[in-house]
Amino acid sequence: MTQDELKAAVADAAIKEIEPHLEKDTVLGIGTGSTANLFIDRLEPLSDRFKGAVASSEASAKRLQALGIEVFELNHVGDVPFYIDGADEVNANLQMIKGGGAALTREKIVAACAKRFICIADGSKYVAQLGNFPLPVEVIPMARSYVARELVKLGADPVYRQGVVTDNGNQIIDCFDFMIDDPAAMEARINAIVGVVTNGLFAQRGADVLLLGTESGVERTALR
Ligand code: 5RP
Repeated sequence: MTQDELKAAVADAAIKEIEPHLEKDTVLGIGTGSTANLFIDRLEPLSDRFKGAVASSEASAKRLQALGIEVFELNHVGDVPFYIDGADEVNANLQMIKGGGAALTREKIVAACAKRFICIADGSKYVAQLGNFPLPVEVIPMARSYVARELVKLGADPVYRQGVVTDNGNQIIDCFDFMIDDPAAMEARINAIVGVVTNGLFAQRGADVLLLGTESGVERTALR
């Protein structure tokens, strides 16, 4: 199977996972990226079964709206029962690196509000140790060089993602050559650097469910 077919299979599996729980007042949390896009496309036939969505990026909001799914501001929404999103890397503890699409901060905010985070990923994203994928860090623009120097002290090789401005008007530094032994501790440590908005480690609040696309089918892991 191609990577796109594996992504489509996990998007289908996520629909099956949430469909029995949809209510007229349900607002879903929706992630960003190519796997999340496949999930969004599969929501269209169900659009009259739930109220709408909160989106982790302007791009996902536009895609949802184009399909007739109402998009709400998170501040106007109470509970988000499910957050469905992809990952750049995920480990056995369902901790992740995210932010390849530069949407990490809004993704982390919606994930924090969600009762259940369902990670949908093709098998290439599953790793024994996080860090082969360069860890994204969203920074306030004036702090970029300072944050980069601090990241060097932590052992990373920071590279400014040229030409990218996040939905929040900030910049991204990608940390190369940075294998991570303790994801939750490193998440906290990087977030404590002045000028960092957040980093792409989703360890303190990882996923609750992983739907992983493999050659032998979609493997489901539930931690909670
Ligand atoms: C965007 C993300 C995505 O979830 C991550 O990059 C995976 O993307 P894709 O589904 O396209 O492989 O974190 O910021």
